[in-house]
Amino acid sequence: MSDRFVVQSLDEIRFWSRIMKEHSFFLRLGFRCEDTQLINEANHFYRVFEGIEQRSHSFQGDVDPTTIQQFNIEVHSAVSHIWVFKRRILDLILTCRLPGQNNFPLLVDHTSREANYFRNRLVELNQGKLEPLQDAIIDENVFFLRIMADHAKFIGHLLDPSERKLVEQAREFSHDFDELLYQAKELDFMRPQSQTAPLLTQMLDQNKVSVKSLRDFKQTARDLIEQCKIKSIIHPLLADHVFREAERFLEIIDMFEAALNKKS
Ligand SMILES: [Fe+2]
Ligand SMILES: [Fe+2]
Repeated sequence: MSDRFVVQSLDEIRFWSRIMKEHSFFLRLGFRCEDTQLINEANHFYRVFEGIEQRSHSFQGDVDPTTIQQFNIEVHSAVSHIWVFKRRILDLILTCRLPGQNNFPLLVDHTSREANYFRNRLVELNQGKLEPLQDAIIDENVFFLRIMADHAKFIGHLLDPSERKLVEQAREFSHDFDELLYQAKELDFMRPQSQTAPLLTQMLDQNKVSVKSLRDFKQTARDLIEQCKIKSIIHPLLADHVFREAERFLEIIDMFEAALNKKS
């Protein structure tokens, strides 16, 4: 348990607890007004993750690692609970027990995958055993490419159909990321023989180009939504949320590139 453990834990918690807080908000927006129980539960999770986020910012770098280890366990438990909540909502939607609610099933599933990712990161951090670099590169790319492909699909479906040009752009991104995801999965299936530095570097280079352009598209969409210049049912916070997740993916790609360069 070291300073690195503290820094990494706080970084993950600061980023993902805000994301979990916002998921609670988005889910709540999509419920019907008569679903007061679900609305209350979503509000409860909003407060839980708001509290976690605030506490994560109150710790300084010199905090005792055992305090952070305990904090990670607490956060892990909260994330497990919101994961169960999201899967329950997905079940209600897929069995047609919430007719007329406004969250896409894929969006609910997507937010539960992000919760699961966060939960796994906390376990890894507390166990102090990170995946070997070659495995982490493929796993993180498969995870984030799918997240990016989903985002493009959500944007395409939440824009007003009359925003023809933007809808078309979103569809192109969706296709591009589906292809990249397939490529990453093919490297995954060819493990361990596929885990050579040149192949991994090439995958990172290729993904980076597409993530940068999706990130810019999201940023533009966010600004246009904020300025009320386009027609959509996208909440400005959702536009910013998916933008931040693309930025996160770019940071992870940069980190992997640096690690691969250091190795060679
Ligand atoms: Fe998210
Ligand atoms: Fe997302």
